[in-house]
Amino acid sequence: MPGIPYVRLATPADDAFVEELHAIAFGPGRFARTAFRVRERFPIDPTLSLIAEVDGMPCGSVWMTPISVGDVNGYLLGPLATHPDFRKRGAGKLLAREVTANALARGEGRFVLLVGDQDYYCPLGWRLTTRGAIVFPGPVDYDRVLAYAPEPDLALALAGPIAAFR
Ligand SMILES: CC(C)(COP(=O)(O)OP(=O)(O)OC[C@H]1O[C@@H](n2cnc3c(N)ncnc32)[C@H](O)[C@@H]1OP(=O)(O)O)[C@@H](O)C(=O)NCCC(=O)NCCS
Repeated sequence: MPGIPYVRLATPADDAFVEELHAIAFGPGRFARTAFRVRERFPIDPTLSLIAEVDGMPCGSVWMTPISVGDVNGYLLGPLATHPDFRKRGAGKLLAREVTANALARGEGRFVLLVGDQDYYCPLGWRLTTRGAIVFPGPVDYDRVLAYAPEPDLALALAGPIAAFR
């Protein structure tokens, strides 16, 4: 459909686009973000990296990092970014929904954590976690620590340091 975003798996040929997109969307401060520190410790899963396209043009990207919190396996979503020329067409929400569905369908992880705006993610099913319960490797704003979990109350029950996927 012309002008309508769709998603596909990322390949190594997308690396330059994604790097440039991260620079545009997050600027040089991106390397100091606490979520970046998690991804330094625990590798992203390239089989969960998605690209959004519009009319054959890459326009957005999302990554997933397998992690655990308090012995519960799950994923950290991010960075999620859409190129400024392609925003407000649904690409960002499509990427967040698709990568979450793909990850949880594997049956190995039970939640998808992220650091982001409640106004954007809560309508998609993310919930605020318990303030201070999930320990990040750096400072984090707990008003932005959100989790998606099909099991009721798991988002609030998550507690402990972010550790390796087991
Ligand atoms: C956030 C971002 C990924 C959204 O991408 P997108 O493809 O435009 O998203 P969608 O088209 O699915 O949704 C757009 C809607 O979300 C709204 N929105 C965008 N960012 C928002 C935010 N931070 N909080 C609340 N609403 C937001 C837009 O105003 C728009 O609303 P509308 O549909 O009523 O017009 C994109 O703006 C971006 O790359 N921003 C910079 C990087 C960033 O902040 N990433 C998220 C980190 S958690």
